[in-house]
Amino acid sequence: MAKQTPCSFLLVLVLGELFFEGVVNVQSEYISAVGDPEMRRDSLRVAIESWNQCNEVGEENLQTGSPRAADCFDIYRVYSPQTNSDSCSICNEMPYVLVHRVTDADNKLTTGEPFLGLQPKSQFDVDLYAADKELYLGSKCEVDDTPNPWQFWMIMLKNGNMDTTAARCPKNGQKVGPFRPDYNAFPCFGDGCMKQPYIYHDYTKLRWPDTTTLKGRFFGSWDSNWDVSRGTMGNTSYYSVTWEKKIGEGSWVFHHVLRTSTKYPWLMLYLRSDSTHGFSGGYHYSTRGMSKIIPESPNFKVRFTLNVIKGGGPHSQFYLMDMGSCWKNNGLPCDGNVTSDVTRYSEMIINPQTPAWCKPEKLDVCPPYHTFSNGTRVHRNDTSRFPYAAYHLHCSPGTAEHLEAPSNLCDPYSNPQPQEIVQILPHPVWGEYGYPTKQGEGWIGDSRTWELDVGRLSQSLYFYQDPGTRPARRQWMSIDLGTEIFKDPDQVAEWTVSDFNILVPEQ
Ligand SMILES: *[C@@H]1O[C@H](CO)[C@@H](O)[C@H](O)[C@H]1NC(C)=O
Ligand SMILES: *[C@@H]1O[C@H](CO)[C@@H](O)[C@H](O)[C@H]1NC(C)=O
Ligand SMILES: *[C@@H]1O[C@H](CO)[C@@H](O)[C@H](O)[C@H]1NC(C)=O
Ligand SMILES: *[C@@H]1O[C@H](CO)[C@@H](O)[C@H](O)[C@H]1NC(C)=O
Repeated sequence: MAKQTPCSFLLVLVLGELFFEGVVNVQSEYISAVGDPEMRRDSLRVAIESWNQCNEVGEENLQTGSPRAADCFDIYRVYSPQTNSDSCSICNEMPYVLVHRVTDADNKLTTGEPFLGLQPKSQFDVDLYAADKELYLGSKCEVDDTPNPWQFWMIMLKNGNMDTTAARCPKNGQKVGPFRPDYNAFPCFGDGCMKQPYIYHDYTKLRWPDTTTLKGRFFGSWDSNWDVSRGTMGNTSYYSVTWEKKIGEGSWVFHHVLRTSTKYPWLMLYLRSDSTHGFSGGYHYSTRGMSKIIPESPNFKVRFTLNVIKGGGPHSQFYLMDMGSCWKNNGLPCDGNVTSDVTRYSEMIINPQTPAWCKPEKLDVCPPYHTFSNGTRVHRNDTSRFPYAAYHLHCSPGTAEHLEAPSNLCDPYSNPQPQEIVQILPHPVWGEYGYPTKQGEGWIGDSRTWELDVGRLSQSLYFYQDPGTRPARRQWMSIDLGTEIFKDPDQVAEWTVSDFNILVPEQ
């Protein structure tokens, strides 16, 4: 074939766009709930947050400060007044300029240091300070939009270590004193095991000579003896999220790496679309995020491309979809009262090495019943019909007063309030919603673009409520993707996410 001229190439692009718009019109009953549909906006908004075992800061890392940082910029084209480009050779070499909205000084803010909007009660409290800092960074990144402004994609880190002798985490939302450690349940190497990680930042920029590719990164480690130059090659913990995009083309690609170590065997790394106001999943302070509309079951879909490169070992609970909400056991929405609010999580784990713990002889980790897509309900004691292999685990909130026996309570320490978790596995019963039906689907070597009917699936799941109460509205303030490497040192997970979008019906 003859070489295509630039002109016909351009024509193809234009036709491609027309075709794309035509497709969108056909589906016009759905609109995007996120500020940056499919991650296509060149002027990126991304932030990072880091949590300890109970979703607080607890102890800052002195080098990093309060563990909230953001990379938000606007990109402008350089126009030379003269079309003859000889007068401005640099303009041709660097035709774009990036104007960053968040400075290094903003990102390094440490408890005690003032900033605009900081509440007096937060200034010397590491937990409240980080919550206020998130709002401050949000105000710098905010983009006006309808029906709500939005701020950023959120990269979330969490360290599962827990120092039980420091009495840092409440039990089911109630303050408790120190207790004797059980290292199997609560990993901790000693003093400082819950400390926040180092956060290094490469601001997004164009890297000459490639003047059309934008690239930036957050990375670091929890280990104090971390050697920056060794990355995943060392035996220390490590995380890295790199974002990259060609200007004017396609999606941002977020490339994630997470490594556990002997001292930090339980680590989590997610990319989240959090609500732009109110609480987000598992977080009891006002949050900032990307979901300008909070998706609600049963009417929403989630689309993204996921490429898992390294799995993270047998205990890597890789979540194809992880979502967080909050409602009280009486079905009312959460209001920040940690003794009666209950975080609700639902996750599909796609690591084929993750077994179904739910079995006919282990009913306590199964939900009381399963609802098929046609509405038929089967009880977990109906051994011929209940799809045991579809469930890894169900655990109930510690505050539930009317549980059907046998039951299994969720970890009472790992959230600021009690929690309930439903973890599902690839299985034919989820096929109807576009989810994987077989172990291995979507895993290493099977990169895919998913369109999941998350709304209908999450409506069908069992969640605990007190008998006789009106069913809660299932509004999902956090929709995320990523992995939790559960108590397994020296494991490496690596994956990319792109094209992320949440679709909701047009009102
Ligand atoms: C980790 O690597 C360092 C440097 O190679 C070595 O000195 C140290 O003994 C290693 N630690 C463990 C626990 O393997
Ligand atoms: C929080 O919830 C608990 C349990 O329902 C209740 O006893 C308490 O009064 C509530 N606190 C506030 C401040 O509303
Ligand atoms: C609903 O689906 C389940 C599982 O496929 C099947 O066993 C059941 O008979 C169906 N119920 C109705 C009413 O079609
Ligand atoms: C199964 O559980 C239901 C609800 O608790 C109960 O009514 C029924 O008797 C149980 N069936 C068997 C065979 O245990």
